[in-house]
Parts: sequence; structure tokens; C-alpha cells
Amino acid sequence: MKYDIKDIRLAKEGKRRIEWAERDMPVLRTVRERFAKERPFKGKSLAAVLHVTAETANLARALKAGGADVALAASNPLSTQDDVAAALVKEYGIPTFAVKGETTKTFFKHIDELISRKPVLTMDDGADLVSTIHESHPRLLETMLGGTEETTTGVIRLRAMAQDGALKMPIVAVNDAKTKNLFDNRYGTGQSTLDGIIRATDVLLAGKTFVVAGYGWCGKGLAMRTKGMGSNVIVTEVDAIKALEAAMDGFAVMPMRDAARVGDIFCTVTGDIHVIGKQEFMAMKDGAIVCNSGHFDVEIDLKTLASLSDGAPRVVREYVEEYTIRGKRIRVLAEGRLVNLAAAEGHPASVMDMSFSTQALASAWMASQKKPLSPGVYDVPERIEHEVSTLKLKAMGITIDKLTSEQKEYLASWKHGT
Ligand code: ADE
Repeated sequence: MKYDIKDIRLAKEGKRRIEWAERDMPVLRTVRERFAKERPFKGKSLAAVLHVTAETANLARALKAGGADVALAASNPLSTQDDVAAALVKEYGIPTFAVKGETTKTFFKHIDELISRKPVLTMDDGADLVSTIHESHPRLLETMLGGTEETTTGVIRLRAMAQDGALKMPIVAVNDAKTKNLFDNRYGTGQSTLDGIIRATDVLLAGKTFVVAGYGWCGKGLAMRTKGMGSNVIVTEVDAIKALEAAMDGFAVMPMRDAARVGDIFCTVTGDIHVIGKQEFMAMKDGAIVCNSGHFDVEIDLKTLASLSDGAPRVVREYVEEYTIRGKRIRVLAEGRLVNLAAAEGHPASVMDMSFSTQALASAWMASQKKPLSPGVYDVPERIEHEVSTLKLKAMGITIDKLTSEQKEYLASWKHGT
């Protein structure tokens, strides 16, 4: 079996971690057991470019149980858990190509390894696999059944491809499912981003001014949790509705240029480029901490920061680089990459349970089509969302009310009024 990982000797620890995560992934376990009986992917090659974590390992196990010839590569050069990658290879027989800290060249070499296996199904977190297939291996698209996309940034990229008429395969936008973004983006990002910041810096959040750039579901979760830790939270936005929501949720809202002068800690979650740049670095206070929890490392303009700096940045702690601008210190975490996955472990398993069950069932839905779906971006079928949320509630021991026939009739009728 071909693979590229850091050290196969880490497999035992990785397996322990995968099994620990599995305890909090009851829905995915149910899906895996069902896949083992129904074999929806039998004989199909599936390539997954995802963060190589203990939670992803449990997704890969479910896909393999369903008959997929599955292989994994990292969706971010800094997010791989090397022990998990080792266990995937040694304990679960899943070809894995991922090394924490790999260069961009190796990152794409790993994606090429997956492509050489001629997948008919893809899973992406950021759309690097699908875009590489379109750009460099278009012949694969002739036999492609479809792909799923896990994250906001990836869905935006794929919708842009569809708009341009460039998308030549069907994609399910898993990110847009309610069972994904209401929970993973909000509670997952909210918690894991703070976890990353705290592990990297050991900073006390109480009493600090914390600037959240972007008030999508990730920004909402981060602002909510940071407020809970006692920070004064400022939100920056470009969208009027989201800015209003933030204001009415009780946060200060202002342009980044103004926030830069007062913030102690900055975190970008916008999905856009250069949200923090020259003007902001110049305005920041001494000791400001700057990080990103959006998918790509483009939200903080690090090139400009380097050009403003007195010299090369100093590594002052693992995952913390200190730049100085005429003596003023600015601390950048995890090279501006996803701080929650680079400096911590990503979202907790309990929330990835829902995202990855949705992901697995959406992929099985694509694989089961009698005639492959036409190219385009598809929503997760309502049936899958219902199933995942119902199973999760059951696992949490929560029961809810059922509509009576009188209530059903009332809701279905236009005749009841004043
Ligand atoms: N994205 C965010 N957190 C994650 C995790 N724990 N595993 C895989 N992908 C993630």
C-alpha cells in the first residue's frame, strides 16, 4: 500500500485517539454499521481531501465499511494529526498522504496521489481536490459520480465555478446543510478557535478586547463563546444584515480600521482576503495577538506585515511568531492558518458526528443514483438532514413532541384564519 505519513510508529497512539473520538460519534457509528450491511460504495474509488483528524478517521472507517476504496490527503498543510495518519495506514489499511507542516508542493503532490487512484467520488474541504481535477485531470470527470464539499469557502469556490460554466461534476454542498452549519460552524468553530488561541498563548480572555472579523455562523459562534469568557467583543462586517444582527446580539460593531486601535486579540473568520492589512497593523497596540479561523491563510496580509517589520519574526512559543514594527510587537498565531486545527484539535467529535454523518450519507446518495446527477451544486436532501438530526437527538437522550392529526390538518389548511 502506498502512503506518505510522518512516522508509522505513532499508530498506536493514533488508534487510541480515533477510538476516543468514536465514543462521541454515535450517529456516524450507526451510519457505519448500516454501510457495512448495505455496501453503498462497493468497489468504488473515493478520494477525500479533508483535515486528517481523529474525527475524519472515523468518517473514513464508515466509508470503507460501505465498500469504498477510500484514500485520504490533508486539506491544510498544518491540520494533520500525525498519529492519526499513522493509525489510518497501519490499523485501518487506509492509504493516507498527510504530514503536519508539509510544504505546498507536497500538499499538491499528495492530492495527485489520490487522483492517480482514479476516484469516481470525491470529498473536499476547501475544493482543492475538485479544482485540481478540473484544471489538470479533466478526463477523470467523464466517469465521476460526484463529490461533497465540507466548508463555506469550498462551496463559494464551487458555486463560482458553476456560475462560470466551469463545473463539470455534481457536488453536494454539505456545508449548507442545517445539520452542518448551525452546529459545526457555530458551536464547533466557537469552541475550537478559543481552544487554539488559548493553547497557543495561554492568554486570559476575561477583560480583553476581542475583535471578530466576519459574522457568518463561524463568527457568530466565536463572538458568543468569547463573550462568555468575559471579553469585550467587537464585530467587523461588510454585510449590513449581518452587522445589524451583531449589533442586536449586543456586540460593538465598527470598521476594522477603528477596531485595530483598541483590540487585544483579533480573529478573522470571513473567507475573504486581506481583512487585516497595512493600515490595521500600523494602528494596532503593542502586544496584539492576530489569528485566523477561516479556511485559507489569506485573511491576514502576512507579506505586508513582514515588509513592515524591523526584521524576521521571532518564534516566541510554539505557534506564535512575533513581528515588530518600530519596536511594537504583533503576535501572529499558526502562520495565519486555521488556528483551531493547527494549534488545537479542530472541532470536538460530538459536533463532527453530525457533519460527517451528513457527508457520508450525501456521498452514498450520489453513489446510489441510477443515472449520475448532472453537473451542478446540490443541497443535501431534506431526508438526510431529518435522519441525522433525529439520530443525534436520540443519542443525546432527548425526545420531542409529535404533531397531532388536528395540528397537522391545521397547518396544512388555508381555511383557518381570524
Ligand atoms: N474541521 C473542523 N474541525 C475538524 C475536525 N475535528 N476534523 C475534521 N475536520 C474539521
